[in-house]
Amino acid sequence: MSDYIRIGVVGTGRGKTFMKPAECTGLKLAAVCDRRPEKLAVIKEQYDPDGNLMTFTDYDEMLKSDIDAVVLANYFNEHAEFAIKALRAGKHVLSECTAISTLAEGVALCRAVEETGKIYMIAENYPFTKQRLELKRVYDSGELGEILYGEAEYCHPMSNSKTYKYAPGELHWRNQIPSTYYCTHAIAQIMHIADIMPVRVNGFVPQIKDQSYRKLEYRQQDSGGIIVCQMDNGAVVRTLQGAFRTQSGIARIYGTKGAAEVERQTGNIVVYHSEVNGEGLEPYRSYEAEWPEHGELASAAGHGGGDFWVQYYFGEAIRKNEQPYLNVYRACAMSSIGILAWKSVLSGGQPFDVPKWDDEEDRKKYENDNWTPFLKEGDDPADHPPRAVAWKPLPEAHEKAKAAWEENDYLGLGWSKKDIDMSFDKVEMN
Ligand SMILES: NC(=O)c1ccc[n+]([C@@H]2O[C@H](COP(=O)([O-])OP(=O)(O)OC[C@H]3O[C@@H](n4cnc5c(N)ncnc54)[C@H](O)[C@@H]3O)[C@@H](O)[C@H]2O)c1
Repeated sequence: MSDYIRIGVVGTGRGKTFMKPAECTGLKLAAVCDRRPEKLAVIKEQYDPDGNLMTFTDYDEMLKSDIDAVVLANYFNEHAEFAIKALRAGKHVLSECTAISTLAEGVALCRAVEETGKIYMIAENYPFTKQRLELKRVYDSGELGEILYGEAEYCHPMSNSKTYKYAPGELHWRNQIPSTYYCTHAIAQIMHIADIMPVRVNGFVPQIKDQSYRKLEYRQQDSGGIIVCQMDNGAVVRTLQGAFRTQSGIARIYGTKGAAEVERQTGNIVVYHSEVNGEGLEPYRSYEAEWPEHGELASAAGHGGGDFWVQYYFGEAIRKNEQPYLNVYRACAMSSIGILAWKSVLSGGQPFDVPKWDDEEDRKKYENDNWTPFLKEGDDPADHPPRAVAWKPLPEAHEKAKAAWEENDYLGLGWSKKDIDMSFDKVEMN
């Protein structure tokens, strides 16, 4: 391995976020892969000042090159298959969310990490905003006691015109993702702050009859997904995700000795104690969070700084040859709650156990569980669970979406000819 960790990025939308890593991460862009050659031409112009960047349209070819690690920013529901191939080819893996789209993939992924010994990390950036890191510092100080209940939300509304553009085609993952599946941003925050794991899951969606407010929306997704998790310390955590109409990034912890949250409006940290659980302590304080270190680099990165920290921790894990905090077991746990919550929604809210991802005896039960609502080209919807239960796009929304896809020279399989910048690197997150 050279002094740098040479990375190959797959996918040129969100993937762009990983193409200029900060020096201190030790990562260096060496290769980019996208099935679309014209996208690669744009990337070469923007990210290849020395003319050394290798580009590939075929992922298997990229894996034959001398890169040390791959960063997976391809389609949401195809990460596990790509990760396993990379691990088996001797590469470390940083995988965008979600880690797995079926439980069987989770079993295969855990085994691949254990058998190869390569570093695997989920690129979950939301635990690493300065506010979430401060909540963790407060929690670790012990002043909140033990977590009883936590809440986290990730709702990122997108206009219809943007969705038509960013999600070309009926089968683009953004058009068919059930409302509980984009769950890692929310649950990862509480898992990291309190260092706890989900063990059982219930899922719910709003069952609103009049959905005319979504008249021209094409996505096959209910208005939002609510997941309630029992955690391994006994606490309960609620997460909200999906296409809710209002942006939200709430994070809140209730402990045995106090509570703390990120205030929605100001982004301040607020810590509460009552006469019952915090005698002698300040009942209320509100203040701005500070970065623990690397503040300048983190502030310049996307997603409230989380995009910097993910790359930093990935580099550190490889250098130390130690699996990172966001290892394969946490990656599978946080991803699988979305799958299990969807099973729960479809069974009227029944609870489902989260596999013990680090225990072969337990996870073996799931090795053939290929249950997925995601359809691929040629699939018969009747062979798959539904992607939405209370919402069906109206025919006029489909017409509008199709017209937009045609305007963008839609090529099938979620591709469209016009270059789409979906790097999200300027999303602000309190
Ligand atoms: N952590 C975050 O904050 C964050 C933000 C945005 C997106 N994401 C995640 O990043 C991933 C990508 O998101 P996006 O918006 O860029 O998606 P996208 O569908 O717009 O882009 C995916 C890219 O991957 C390429 N691709 C797909 N299959 C390929 C294959 N077999 N070989 C080569 N290239 C292939 C496509 O051509 C496309 O350029 C998703 O999983 C999403 O959940 C995470």
